[in-house]
Amino acid sequence: MADYVDRLFCEALASSPATHSVHSAHSKCISKVDSDTSDEEEKDSIERIRSTMMESEGTSGDEEVVRRVAAQLKIFRHVTKDCSVKRGKHVSISERKEKGFKSTSLTYGEIPFVTMALTLEKIKSRGGVRKNKSTFYDLGSGTGKACFAASLLQPFRSVVGIEFLSSLHEVALETKLRFDELPREAVASELSALRFVCGDIISHDWSDADVCFANTTCFKSDLMRALAKKSEKMKKGSWFVTTTKTLDSDHWEVVESIRYKMSWGFATLFHQRKVK
Ligand SMILES: C[S@@+](CC[C@H](N)C(=O)[O-])C[C@H]1O[C@@H](n2cnc3c(N)ncnc32)[C@H](O)[C@@H]1O
Repeated sequence: MADYVDRLFCEALASSPATHSVHSAHSKCISKVDSDTSDEEEKDSIERIRSTMMESEGTSGDEEVVRRVAAQLKIFRHVTKDCSVKRGKHVSISERKEKGFKSTSLTYGEIPFVTMALTLEKIKSRGGVRKNKSTFYDLGSGTGKACFAASLLQPFRSVVGIEFLSSLHEVALETKLRFDELPREAVASELSALRFVCGDIISHDWSDADVCFANTTCFKSDLMRALAKKSEKMKKGSWFVTTTKTLDSDHWEVVESIRYKMSWGFATLFHQRKVK
């Protein structure tokens, strides 16, 4: 799969006019790959979680974490069963077509549950998640799956997803109805912690975030610049995870970069800590 995506990425890059940037080629690649990783996640969950952890320094060998992630994955699948990557892509493409939105920043793709689990586990191991005190944001939350994952996995006080496309936001709200029916003990975060906002991440306030995630692989440079500027309002010591691109600001230090599986193949996740 990774080879296939790499090949598509190279083809897309080669066929792009010189003026096109790398992320526009990557966007083409993402839209060509329509496999749904949630189907793949069905296979050998525990083994896959364990082997991914073995490859990932700092979380390896913790059987308790493997079992907890595998158990929460079952609940996640139940909650998000009508919410495949394919559906997210379809809904996103339809709205962009209908409204004439051309920006490649709106390209759809997802972080798989296990990738989010390992990412949050690392941030927690570095003191980034304080029980019932920390706030998590997904900036550009799509159908909300990263927020459902965060709520199931870690004891956040608050989990917020902000998404520009209203049709994706509607899917997140529909899925939340199923999430809200879960028994209290199934969810790690505070019960009323999860909310979704429809709007532009640049015009909303998320300066109270302790942990921010943004799937930025296809974000254009103007959006990345605005995101970096706005992120400077976050607290010193807070965390920001981005994909493929880093925040261009001296307020942030890259603590770790790891290649993880995403819905379109592999991408580098940058764990950044706010140093001033
Ligand atoms: C690659 S998808 C990531 C979805 C989800 N965060 C995940 O990783 O599973 C990026 C999302 O960001 C949204 N987006 C792009 N620019 C945005 C903006 N300025 N404000 C809010 N959402 C935005 C897109 O519509 C898209 O749903």
